[in-house]
Amino acid sequence: MVDTDAPVVVARDLAKVYQVGSAPVVALNRVSLEIPRGTFAAVVGTSGSGKSTLLNMLGGLEKPTAGEVWVAGQPLHSFGEDELVKFRRENVGFVFQSFNLIASMTAMENVAWPLAFQGVGKQERLVRARAALMRMGLESHLDHRPNQMSGGQQQRVGIARALVVNPSIVFADEPTGNLDSRTAETTLNLFRQLCTRYHQTWVMVTHDNHLASFADMVIRISDGRIVSVERPNHDGAAVPAAAPMGTSPDRSR
Ligand SMILES: Nc1ncnc2c1ncn2[C@@H]1O[C@H](COP(=O)(O)OP(=O)(O)OP(=O)(O)O)[C@@H](O)[C@H]1O
Ligand SMILES: [Mg+2]
Repeated sequence: MVDTDAPVVVARDLAKVYQVGSAPVVALNRVSLEIPRGTFAAVVGTSGSGKSTLLNMLGGLEKPTAGEVWVAGQPLHSFGEDELVKFRRENVGFVFQSFNLIASMTAMENVAWPLAFQGVGKQERLVRARAALMRMGLESHLDHRPNQMSGGQQQRVGIARALVVNPSIVFADEPTGNLDSRTAETTLNLFRQLCTRYHQTWVMVTHDNHLASFADMVIRISDGRIVSVERPNHDGAAVPAAAPMGTSPDRSR
């Protein structure tokens, strides 16, 4: 039986030191955290605070210098590259700020692509890819290549590609950075639904406090350290109430 309250992401004394020439850069300084299954977590901090570094460690994209990372009960810190590739393929989805779409493929082909690694047949791949793209409001762009789409449309294709495999955990780096505020809020409400209804876990990096307020758990990071962990109380309401365009002081970056 799955223990739905068990933390699905655990970091213990996690450190990452990059070497730039002869100077060490401490990107993460002994970070410890636990994220329960079904949580929509936001990692918030200023530029250079270590958000992407933390996300990359938690998602098994980079190895920590010291400390432990446990995701879905697996010790990523002790995995080799092949084990990490297998782990990522089977357990996690990523939404990259830079989209990472394949330029020669259409939106449908990009979204269907990860399903090929799971042995899903072609017909079902296309059906699922279409459904994921429709969910992101891209039904009229199924056959467009990345260079035929706007930045926000490409970002939504990237989100659809993460959704299509139904991963238990999704790591998203500024997933709404190219979306207008209304589309961003719709997208964040979708992430919340996926967490509450399907017990998916989302870990989203953002530098935007307003966007972070949609999350169940807000992890603030500064200079490679966690400075606070808050759990905003949404009281079951549709959160947060959308202010008319241009009236929210928090909306500016
Ligand atoms: N590959 C690398 N080599 C050397 N230093 C790095 C590397 N990646 C990140 N850093 C440094 O680590 C620190 C944290 O970087 P990180 O990319 O995690 O910040 P961030 O919070 O994601 O910032 P942003 O909001 O600008 O994306 C920064 O000082 C950065 O210069
Ligand atoms: Mg970053």
